[in-house]
Amino acid sequence: MDLQTQLEELKRSTQEKLAQMTHEHARDMQDLRVQVLGKKGSLTELLKGLKDLSNDLRPVIGKQVNEVRDVLTSAFEERAKLIEEMAIQAQLEKESLDVTLPGRQFKLGNRHILSQTCQDIEDIFLGMGYQIIDGFEVEKDYYNFERMNLPKDHPARDMQDSFYITEEILLRTHTSPVEARAMDQHDFSKGPLKMISPGRVFRRDTDDATHSHQFHQIEGLVVGENISMADLKGTLLLISQKMFGEDRKIRLRPSYFPFTEPSVEVDVSCFKCEGKGCSVCKKTGWIEILGAGMTHPSVLEMSGIDSSKYSGFAFGMGQERIAMLRYGINDIRGFYQGDSRFSEQFK
Ligand code: PHE
Repeated sequence: MDLQTQLEELKRSTQEKLAQMTHEHARDMQDLRVQVLGKKGSLTELLKGLKDLSNDLRPVIGKQVNEVRDVLTSAFEERAKLIEEMAIQAQLEKESLDVTLPGRQFKLGNRHILSQTCQDIEDIFLGMGYQIIDGFEVEKDYYNFERMNLPKDHPARDMQDSFYITEEILLRTHTSPVEARAMDQHDFSKGPLKMISPGRVFRRDTDDATHSHQFHQIEGLVVGENISMADLKGTLLLISQKMFGEDRKIRLRPSYFPFTEPSVEVDVSCFKCEGKGCSVCKKTGWIEILGAGMTHPSVLEMSGIDSSKYSGFAFGMGQERIAMLRYGINDIRGFYQGDSRFSEQFK
């Protein structure tokens, strides 16, 4: 075969091979390029034959060699570009995105049932012009007990035996100390004090289905001129109806708290059986919901309030107890375990 034919043959066969190259042959194409156009490649090999040609033919064939080199060089470049596009296209097809697929669902959380209950109760009182006051969970023995008419060694302290930090500082056993702090702050020349204070309290208690060593209360206090037991009763009836239904009645039973006199235990008529007797009310028709009473004159006096001019009432309720009754929850531990199966029931 003469040199000219060999050149044509090299060009043709290389172009043919190139046409077969796809993005899966990037490596093969690289090899082919070296084979044909490389320093020790076929074209260089053919060039060696030039020296044996006649003086007439040498420049003609030399020109042809250059042409073949140019044609093949650009053929490789073009194919390389094409292959790159093929690769992108293939990648796109592999990663194809179906925009009609439904989106991933994510769970929407909800407020803890205790927070919901507390907020409901706060709303009732805000609507009646009460203010909400925050207290301290770590409290002085002085406010927690002494200002609530429970001097040192008072037997009623035993019921609320608690977590002491020092002899004078403890985790509060009830929200009542906020009463004393609020009375100390209030300017009675500007009108009565009407406040509630929700928050966490602590007692040395064994944890079971109805007891927890920490739980939540809402304290309420109204102090002003001419505040009477009738005001207390009216307020209790109203909030009972707001919390448990318009048809509720209340019943007051005598009780004892050192900081109120008289003191009462408040029952609401059973909302489950309408008073006929069922498991919720333990067949009595009544459910105990909170403790209350008329603020003891000594408690007023300790805040520098003239108890001959001012009087007040107070009440304290357990948030868990209210929520358990309203939603039929029978184990207090559910509130604290953080199990979403519990929480999700109250969306
Ligand atoms: N502090 C009392 C308790 O924790 C509840 C209470 C508050 C009673 C206010 C009367 C008045 O048991």
